[in-house]
Amino acid sequence: MRIDIVTCLPKLLEGPFDDSILKRAQKKGLVELKVHNLRDYATNKHKKVDDYAYGGGAGMVLMIEPIEHCISSLKSERDYDEVIYMSPDGEIFDQPMANQLSLSQNLIILCGHYKGVDERVREYLVTKEISIGNYVLTGGEMAAAVVSDAVIRLIPGVLSDETSALSDSFQDDMVAPPVYTRPADYKGKKVPDILLSGHEAKIEEWRMQQALERTKVRRPELYSKFKNK
Ligand code: ADE
Repeated sequence: MRIDIVTCLPKLLEGPFDDSILKRAQKKGLVELKVHNLRDYATNKHKKVDDYAYGGGAGMVLMIEPIEHCISSLKSERDYDEVIYMSPDGEIFDQPMANQLSLSQNLIILCGHYKGVDERVREYLVTKEISIGNYVLTGGEMAAAVVSDAVIRLIPGVLSDETSALSDSFQDDMVAPPVYTRPADYKGKKVPDILLSGHEAKIEEWRMQQALERTKVRRPELYSKFKNK
């Protein structure tokens, strides 16, 4: 898979992909991640990528021209499954959407900033709009990192134990059961006996029960979805 992230603040995306699992995935060639600076696609003298909103009002708007240049230059190299725009009014991101996006070959993710992008970008260039939640960030970069992370970890071979992505919270519309590690007794706070029993089938049953109970208490909306399946 290849992900091209288009932003006017590329520095914001230097950290998230340069460590741990996401770095290893790139090294292994399982994902190619490219961050593009919108300013490199501006044709005006001052490399300006934003301007005042027609009709007035506070805040700058990202111009269509550099965005169009960047996206068409990428599209001339390969086909893209989606051109995603990160926006607080997009479709709410969730596990099924991550699963679906992880089947893509190539994705473009455009990060908004300031007051957003010229509406014509959304109308003519973007194929999907995603929000990571009902709150407003200063820009789409963090949101693009969240979506990329959730998608990349689903690519086969990215996680060392491939089944671990399948047993995640939300993969079965359930949250994950509690986990423990050593010591078995920490200042009198003990790990449940069943986990030390070595009885695999019983442990599995316990985990399932715990996951169900947690889902019911913590995420009742997921629980009713699961019950009605
Ligand atoms: N840009 C600003 N806020 C956002 C959000 N909640 N999701 C996606 N992109 C955003």
